[in-house]
This record gives sequence, C-alpha cells and structure tokens, in this order.
Amino acid sequence: MTTSITPTPRTAIVTGAASGIGAATVLELARQGYRTVGIDINAEGADATAFEATKINALTHTAVPADVADEAQIIAAFDRALGFLGHLDVLVTSAGVADTTPFMSLSVATFRAVHAINVIGTFLCIREAAQRMQRGGRICTIASVAGLRGGGLSGTAAYAASKGGVLALTKSAARALAAQGICVNTVAPGATYTPMIAEHWKNDAHRARVEAMSVLNRTADAHEIAASIAFLVSAQASAITGSTLVADNGLMMY
Ligand SMILES: NC(=O)c1ccc[n+]([C@@H]2O[C@H](COP(=O)([O-])OP(=O)(O)OC[C@H]3O[C@@H](n4cnc5c(N)ncnc54)[C@H](O)[C@@H]3O)[C@@H](O)[C@H]2O)c1
Repeated sequence: MTTSITPTPRTAIVTGAASGIGAATVLELARQGYRTVGIDINAEGADATAFEATKINALTHTAVPADVADEAQIIAAFDRALGFLGHLDVLVTSAGVADTTPFMSLSVATFRAVHAINVIGTFLCIREAAQRMQRGGRICTIASVAGLRGGGLSGTAAYAASKGGVLALTKSAARALAAQGICVNTVAPGATYTPMIAEHWKNDAHRARVEAMSVLNRTADAHEIAASIAFLVSAQASAITGSTLVADNGLMMY
C-alpha cells in the first residue's frame, strides 16, 4: 500500500495587501499554492484581495486590518495571523506611502509620517515575523529605485530617504537573521502602475519623461513586481540574502 503525503501549504503574511503590488503579491502567492494573510490599514480592500485569492485556490485566505506604524496593532495582527495560518514561512512588506512635497516645503511632521510607515513599519513587521518563523523563513521588503538614486521619478526627499532606509534595513536584517536561517531581500521597483502613481500618470508629459528614463521605455504592472517578489521568497532563492532585485525596466543598470 502506498501512502500519499499532502505537503503542508506554504504560508505568507503580506502587508499593503489591499492595493497595487501587495494585492498582486497575495494573488501570485495564491496561484503558487500559498495560504495568505493580508495586513492593511484599508480593511475593506484587504478583505477584497483575500476574497479574490480564495477564488484562485481552494485554500483559505484572510485579512487583518492594522496600521504598520502602530506597534501594538502590528503585534496583535501578527498574533491573529499566526492563529489563522498555524506557522509562518514568508513575509512581504508592501505597505507604504509616497510623498511628492518639494524639498524646501517639506515639514518635519511629513518627513516623520513617511518614515514611520515606510521604515519603522517595515522594521516592526520584520521583527514580528522573525519571532514567529522557523529556519527557512523568507522575508521580502519593497524599496524603490528612489532609494537608490535619491528620487527623481515622482517621489521627493522624504520618500527617497525612506526607501534608502528600507535598503539598509533589509541588509541589516539579513545579517541579524542569518543565524536563524531566515533570508531577507528587497525588490526595488521602478515606476509601476498602481493607485500610488495613477494620479501622476494622468500627466502625459510626466509619464513620458519617467518612462523614457528606462531603456524599455515603459511602466511595469504590479503583477510583474509580484513575480519578482514570489521568486525571492521561494525555495529557489536559497542562496540569496541581503540582495536588491531591481525591477525597473532597465532604469538603473548599475
Ligand atoms: N507604484 C510604484 O511605482 C512603486 C515604485 C517603487 C516602489 N513602490 C513601493 O511599493 C510598495 C507598494 O506600493 P503600491 O504601488 O502598491 O501602492 P498602493 O498605494 O497601491 O498600495 C500601498 C498599500 O499600503 C497600504 N498602507 C499605506 N499605509 C499603511 C499603513 N500605515 N499601514 C498599513 N497599510 C498601509 C495602503 O492602504 C495600500 O493598500 C510601496 O512601499 C511603494 O513605495 C511603488
């Protein structure tokens, strides 16, 4: 008699799951057979993504509303997520905000608010995930080419500095968590068509200028970035940690 053992599905928490790259990542991971929990400040949007994911595979997906900048909310959200998933293989931190305030008009309050979500929010989620992961855990953060080149697309100083922070934070986490067998990488997208840039893309001249900065002369779709993220959190990426995968249609080429 042969006994077939059904492998335990991989599990993932995805922040920013209500929209754009985070939503596309939940759906890509669902296609790959993961169970997921989406965390987002937009509860309705995160629920809608979980509902779409449930249509893709028969496994259960859910959403937990939380503000990534709020420590107590995030600890509670990770507890709820683990109660649902049972164990945690993967974290993707896609929650983030853009800011386009001109340098000389930028207030400290705005700078702090962007930093609190993009950098401290990412840190909090990495810390809480790592506490709940076993060896083999995978974490993918989302930086931006803005963090590599100091903005110059749509985002300005607070955004660019926050994404530079995510780049350094990712490497620091990769060093700190290596002994636990957890790999931490980042995807740095170029312009990607999501609600974050939709308003800016109504300005044809702006869009054409930014697209022309990339050799492929185009804007990425969220599902293309999700595919890069899904690779970095897969078992195939076992030799990769502390790395930046630049998915920018050939803008940086460094
Ligand atoms: N779209 C681009 O061109 C682009 C380029 C480079 C990097 N990125 C980065 O990709 C990530 C995803 O962006 P997107 O384009 O999908 O944008 P998006 O606006 O479509 O999605 C961002 C999500 O983050 C959530 N969010 C915002 N603040 C939050 C908070 N405090 N707590 C919990 N959730 C919060 C929003 O509700 C939203 O669902 C961001 O970190 C962004 O900086 C985007």
